[in-house]
Amino acid sequence: MEIVELKKGIYWVGAIDWNVRDFHGYSTPTGTTYNAYLILDEKNVLVDTVKAPFYLEMLGRISEIVDPTKIDIIVSNHVEMDHSSSLPQIVERIGNPVVITSERGRKGLEKHYKRPMNFRVVKTGETHSIGRRTLAFVEAPMLHWPDSMFTYIPEDRVLLPNDAFGQHIASSYRFADEVGDEVMKHAAKYYANILWPLAPLILKKIDEVVKMGIPIDVIGPSHGLIWRKDPGRIINAYVEWSQGKAGKKILVVYDTMWGSTEALAKAILKGLIEEGAEAKLLHLRSNHRSDIIEEMLEAKGVLLGSPTLNNGMFPTMGDFLTYMRGLRPKGKFFGLFGSYGWGGGAVKEMRRSLEQEKFDIWEKELTAQYIPDPEEIQKAIEFGKEFAKKVESNSTNDSK
Ligand code: FEO
Repeated sequence: MEIVELKKGIYWVGAIDWNVRDFHGYSTPTGTTYNAYLILDEKNVLVDTVKAPFYLEMLGRISEIVDPTKIDIIVSNHVEMDHSSSLPQIVERIGNPVVITSERGRKGLEKHYKRPMNFRVVKTGETHSIGRRTLAFVEAPMLHWPDSMFTYIPEDRVLLPNDAFGQHIASSYRFADEVGDEVMKHAAKYYANILWPLAPLILKKIDEVVKMGIPIDVIGPSHGLIWRKDPGRIINAYVEWSQGKAGKKILVVYDTMWGSTEALAKAILKGLIEEGAEAKLLHLRSNHRSDIIEEMLEAKGVLLGSPTLNNGMFPTMGDFLTYMRGLRPKGKFFGLFGSYGWGGGAVKEMRRSLEQEKFDIWEKELTAQYIPDPEEIQKAIEFGKEFAKKVESNSTNDSK
């Protein structure tokens, strides 16, 4: 196995999951990685572990560098099982190492694995000397679980923030600077689908870390590629995404039964484009929900269209709205449209769903019965034009 060194004596010893395609509802078309890090010093340290089926892959990488029984300390930055489910096995293999974690981390690990471990519980600002180096800890509750914690190595300027700053990419490369701009697209999708609801906390935590004045050369997240050159790039992107900075893009997200809602969607798109908007048509069964969420990061306006099925919205729209509401995207302006046969109900149900999270919704809506006639298609074009003007005026007001 190739040995990957981040800084002298600090190694990546994680695993590559080439085959995972669904990460609890998030599509991972190339797979992902579970990153663990090994630090060799007077006391040898393993920071985080990997998902249990990949234990032997991690152990193999560790064994290339050091006898695993020579590990003295394991840091568990996060309880979620993609990072901790190998912990019982590696603790067993080493034989009772010190396990450093936050108080909530201790509780979470005990509840998950129901076995005694030699815990040292740490809080923000506490340190642990391992010889030439120091481990410094910053609790990061709700980024993205209550137990989440960052580990920082001041002597090497290395930050190991677990899930923060990650990307779901499986690749033969280990460093972000080896793959070019593609990494930012993966990082944006990861942020939008995992961290978006935590935007205020992210801004606060970044501010806290900046005020601590800790220099950072390398950021080693728990998924994907390591930020080795210009780690400020991903920090700045997180600040921008968390501040809700977006382009003027407008999305038309829809599903259709017999083509009527699609005909409205395409007419609305025509109106948006005629008004000069950068617009995109996204069919809910041709685009994964997590890809649409990534598109939303850069959008100012979102038009949602659904046919009526059993007096309500189409199931794919229900799925999407449930997912989207949980992510609480801020600063988006929503419009609603749809088709029906007799009683209707899709648009009403979509509005009710959005109102639960107090989204900004245009009071005007567009519906058509059975097959839209040419006048209704013309109305849909006008609806698109008017929506584009509303988004434009909202953006102008925002920037004042
Ligand atoms: Fe929150 Fe990658 O686990």
